[in-house]
Amino acid sequence: MRLLIMGPPGAGKGTQAEIITKKLGIPHISTGDMFRKAIKDGTAMGKKAKAYIDAGQLVPDDVTVGIVKERLSEADCAEGFLLDGFPRTVPQAEALDDILNELGVKLDKVISLEVPQEIILHRLTGRRICKGCGSSYHISNNPPKVAGKCDKCGGELMQRTDDTEETVASRLRVYEQQTAPLINFYESHHIICHIKGDQPIEQVLQRIGNCLGRDLA
Ligand code: AP5
Ligand code: MG
Ligand code: ZN
Repeated sequence: MRLLIMGPPGAGKGTQAEIITKKLGIPHISTGDMFRKAIKDGTAMGKKAKAYIDAGQLVPDDVTVGIVKERLSEADCAEGFLLDGFPRTVPQAEALDDILNELGVKLDKVISLEVPQEIILHRLTGRRICKGCGSSYHISNNPPKVAGKCDKCGGELMQRTDDTEETVASRLRVYEQQTAPLINFYESHHIICHIKGDQPIEQVLQRIGNCLGRDLA
């Protein structure tokens, strides 16, 4: 399946994407994760992206579209993929249409996770991610079995540099202004599922499964 998951910062895109892609055996393509890896590896692209990310702003479209185009052309995407956090602007969505046309494929579904702003701050300031594999936890909503250690790889857990109150406020503004209009864009393609994201992780997953017509449990 060719899927896209969208929603405001902290909506649970990464959390759901990790489970769905494992179940369906398709790659999880998160532009945020790709940028964080480039920053960790100290690449030129990572250096460019870091300033935007730490300010809660979007990385320029040309950079972002370039890395997604390259990634979607890799062999493991031939049978499907799940895009997480891309597209985030109308030009990115138009570029994605062009890339998919060139590859001769179409999106099957767009999952839109809807979460009220009041609960986002709590989710993001309590989030911890694994230094090793990037898995995401929450100190109270989704704690690891051993405090500070990743369940999957034993890696050390840390906070993301853009999860401060100030940067989250900026990310939310950017989402409302530049990304929320995409809901209408995909509404017109008739493939969007609106999912209430302020439910326990398993319930959100079940609703996504209903929308995809797959048992994801
Ligand atoms: P990105 O990494 O994509 O960040 P984001 O969109 O702000 O979203 P998050 O990753 O913060 O949230 P999420 O929805 O994945 O939530 P999660 O599952 O972790 O992008 C980072 C930056 O990179 C951007 O600001 C931008 O600068 C740049 N960038 C990326 N893509 C770009 C693009 N296309 N164009 C330009 N720039 C781009 O969950 C959050 C927390 O809540 C966790 O602690 C989790 O355990 C918990 N949680 C999850 N689900 C639930 C639930 N159901 N109930 C309770 N708690 C839950
Ligand atoms: Mg994420
Ligand atoms: Zn890990």
